[in-house]
Amino acid sequence: MSISIHMNPDLFKIRKDFPILDQKVNGKPFIYLDNAATSQRPQQVIDRMNEFSHRFNGNIHRATHFMANKTTEAFEESREMVRNYLNAVEPAEIIFTHGTTESINLVAFSFGEAFISKGDEVIVTEMEHHANIVPWQMMCERRGAGLKIVPFGDNGVLDLDQIDKLITDKTRILAVTHVSNTLGTVNPITEIIAKAHLKNVPVLIDGAQAAPHFSIDVQALDCDFYAFSGHKMYGPTGIGVLYGKRKWLDLMPPFLGGGEMIDRVTFSKTTYNEIPYKFEAGTPDYLGAIGLGAAIDYLNRQDKPMIERYERELLLESTLKLKQIDGLKIYGEAPEKAGVVSFNIDGIHPFDLGTLLDQMGIAVRTGRLCADPVMDHFGVENMVRASFAFYNTVEEIEALYIALIRLKAMF
Ligand code: ALA
Repeated sequence: MSISIHMNPDLFKIRKDFPILDQKVNGKPFIYLDNAATSQRPQQVIDRMNEFSHRFNGNIHRATHFMANKTTEAFEESREMVRNYLNAVEPAEIIFTHGTTESINLVAFSFGEAFISKGDEVIVTEMEHHANIVPWQMMCERRGAGLKIVPFGDNGVLDLDQIDKLITDKTRILAVTHVSNTLGTVNPITEIIAKAHLKNVPVLIDGAQAAPHFSIDVQALDCDFYAFSGHKMYGPTGIGVLYGKRKWLDLMPPFLGGGEMIDRVTFSKTTYNEIPYKFEAGTPDYLGAIGLGAAIDYLNRQDKPMIERYERELLLESTLKLKQIDGLKIYGEAPEKAGVVSFNIDGIHPFDLGTLLDQMGIAVRTGRLCADPVMDHFGVENMVRASFAFYNTVEEIEALYIALIRLKAMF
């Protein structure tokens, strides 16, 4: 599809699906370029969630009445939609969590309890989001294990040779992001997984920034765990997914205790439910799961290869434009990159840029981007980040470019 909205009926139609985009912010047409933080929701997701809020509500898996049956059915339908979206073998391998962060914490805790002992090692990379660092650090402290780091070069590309060097017979798991939320790098996870598996090391993929943009096939990837969030893929907040291979999930102890995750409770001993319920203690966010199902349904109705090509065009266009600005430095220029452009402009504090852009109706993210090690790598305190979705347009990129030129002149 063409990236100009004026020449593109498909894009016009897609934008109509996202009512939030059609308004003014600070008196200016709203331009949303913070999709890596959270994406907007199409009317179809809003309608599906409203339908359930208005007409159907009963706690799932716990009663035989009409309302409970409606929500239970819709919740399990969503699980099947996620299974299909990821091409997992069976729905039992799909666990609903509150988001990527909880999914990774679940694995770090439960896998750690089952398989990590004193002196063992865990590998992560230098470009991870804090959510794929801190849970592993916490687990390593608890279990007496060590954390090793795969570095990246200044272009934002992981040093894959280091993986072979870092894996030892003590390595128990490797965790890596599919797409960096800061550098935009699309990591060669097929290659990374194959390298790790050669040495019998399982791999967790943080898919928070990838699942909304690329087709994912966990069987083809052969990853052991894959985590993502609903709110970054046009669904609601508060819902996320952990995919795990049954062979691991069956052996891992529960993460949280409570209702639903049990088989039988007595004061002398409690036995646990089967997967996925073993990992779904308490009342889940079933409305969120239903909304996520609607988001997946919406995505499935789009032309996915076309969306991938289009988002790539947005990235190329924005990189080309921003590079024309004197004193602007882009962080991360990997050949395989998703729609994320992090940058700074000499002499302008990123927070000033973010605030002034907001006054022009343009939403970008500023700060440490939940990736302190990436900030440290480049020796900066903060960055500005523009991140794209398939409803963004070349006109919006042009508006960002013009706004930055004006701000640069002002300073
Ligand atoms: N993980 C989100 C981001 O990168 C919040 O902005």
